[in-house]
Amino acid sequence: MSRSRYRLLLAAPLVGALLAAGLGACSSAPAATPPATPAVTAAPVLTGAAAGQVMYEQSCASCHGAGGVGIKFTLDNQTIEVPAITFAELDALYHDKFDTMAVDTITKGVDEAGQPLNRMMPRWTIFSDQQLADIVTYLKTLK
Ligand code: HEC
Repeated sequence: MSRSRYRLLLAAPLVGALLAAGLGACSSAPAATPPATPAVTAAPVLTGAAAGQVMYEQSCASCHGAGGVGIKFTLDNQTIEVPAITFAELDALYHDKFDTMAVDTITKGVDEAGQPLNRMMPRWTIFSDQQLADIVTYLKTLK
């Protein structure tokens, strides 16, 4: 108790002096000048496959693997195989309807015949049309 009081008393004059100095500085200043704002450097805006890659890595790679090579793992004694989704794999399924079918697969969870995929494949509703196009552009680059 006495120790903390002692410290407080010691600190009080110091706080007073700092306050006085601060107030003095304020009242003598002609006008409040806002602090200089650091220059804002715009982050590069990714587009196309580069944007698609970022979304792929954040939302898809955990299941489909880096570069879309697919993943096989065992959980509760069950072997789960998440399919490869490289261009070659998907092109063999989607043919000339690659873009629309890939978007349907991603957003509705349906395969090339319109049949529902396993529920483990999420039905993605968070992506804008542009983001979906970028993801598909990225999928087409996967070898
Ligand atoms: C939680 C795991 C998981 C995540 C995350 C995931 N997928 Fe899937 N995906 C699957 C599984 C499992 C299948 C296979 C479903 C089936 O065969 O019925 C699949 C199937 C697919 C297929 C169809 C492949 C085929 O052979 O028909 C495509 C395309 C696909 N996913 C794309 C994506 C994209 C793009 C993302 C990210 C936006 C994504 N997936 C995120 C698990 C996932």
